[in-house]
Amino acid sequence: MTLKFTALALAATLFVLACATDDTNTASGNYTNPNGSSELAVLMNDLYREAEKAKQKIALGHTPEWSVDAEKILTAAATEPEKAASSEYKAFAVSYLETVRMLKNATPAEAPEHFKVMATACMNCHNAICPGPTKRIRKLL
Ligand code: HEC
Repeated sequence: MTLKFTALALAATLFVLACATDDTNTASGNYTNPNGSSELAVLMNDLYREAEKAKQKIALGHTPEWSVDAEKILTAAATEPEKAASSEYKAFAVSYLETVRMLKNATPAEAPEHFKVMATACMNCHNAICPGPTKRIRKLL
């Protein structure tokens, strides 16, 4: 009983760290969660770095490379599993994945607009359920 409570409190604390910490001042690409990152947090950081690179390529009229499996957003273990299991999370995840699909199929001329739509989908989920990283994500817009 006590152990279960401690585990829950710990999970909640880690979630607060991942979702409530404003990590704007950490050098992008070098951010590591001092408490050990969840599978979802690692995926998010990979998506962030890939998006930063893609934004630069698109601005130059080049076609970005995509290697991170965005679909894992549906299955990766989160710091607070209940949250990623919510129907709200799933709805945001599905609409985000649709924007990824559109971006990957976009022509170079369409890509800048589709990139913004994709980054907005990142923001929409974060504004609703995980506000901490929003300042950092806004840099993608
Ligand atoms: C469906 C909701 C959702 C979408 C869409 C989403 N995120 Fe996240 N993001 C989360 C949640 C929940 C966490 C907390 C993960 C954890 O701690 O397990 C998170 C964490 C993060 C973090 C912090 C990771 C860390 O080290 O703690 C960054 C940065 C991030 N997301 C960037 C992005 C970017 C960039 C996109 C779009 C490419 C995106 N997110 C799309 C829900 C989402």
